[in-house]
Amino acid sequence: MSSGLSQRLKAISSLVQKNYTSVWDICCDHGKLGLEILKRDKCEKLFLVDCVESIMANLKYLQSEQVDVICKDGAFIDNLGSNSLVCICGVGGEEMIHILEGLELRNDLRDTDFILSPHNQAYKVRSYLRSRGLNKLSEHLITDRSWTYEVLFVGHQYNEEVSEIGEELYLNSCDTSLKHLKKITKHYHNTKETIASKYSALLTKLT
Ligand SMILES: C[S@@+](CC[C@H](N)C(=O)[O-])C[C@H]1O[C@@H](n2cnc3c(N)ncnc32)[C@H](O)[C@@H]1O
Repeated sequence: MSSGLSQRLKAISSLVQKNYTSVWDICCDHGKLGLEILKRDKCEKLFLVDCVESIMANLKYLQSEQVDVICKDGAFIDNLGSNSLVCICGVGGEEMIHILEGLELRNDLRDTDFILSPHNQAYKVRSYLRSRGLNKLSEHLITDRSWTYEVLFVGHQYNEEVSEIGEELYLNSCDTSLKHLKKITKHYHNTKETIASKYSALLTKLT
């Protein structure tokens, strides 16, 4: 396992400013995001969660007083506890919604923060967050090599509603953000998703 932290994970970790009782890195795979947050001293306890047994077997050596290594579908976690941060990064939008639905069902999320970075169909995640009253603290576009990722920092305790397609992400109209907007607009046109017209309208407005 390489120990290097990607630009993407470094940038996501840097969004964590406050100190949490628990940080849950759900869909952790290598666990690097959670471990970086722990290294930055932003939590008392880190939970590394992934549903693949072989992945978690490789992380077992990290089990300690400060780190719990859990092999489980993230949707079934029922002990998040208060003052928690949940990170779900690097999975598709539909899988992320499945996990969020499960967490909502099984936990009191009133003071839980979430850092979410779906690798596709972010608009579906946005729609879910809007329907659940999970509001925005901040949102970001993070570019690492040739890939650009949407990252949402949300929670029930914030006041600003998440927007349908994340217009704010593109307002600076820099080359990278416009390139990303063009790419996803083309993608949603190709897949004939109705949201494509909203991305097209934004692109027209900005170019
Ligand atoms: C591409 S990795 C992302 C790793 C890391 N979060 C990152 O952003 O680099 C996706 C991981 O999500 C895990 N996963 C997918 N669905 C899951 C679920 N419902 N519960 C727990 N883990 C899940 C997969 O096993 C895989 O290891």
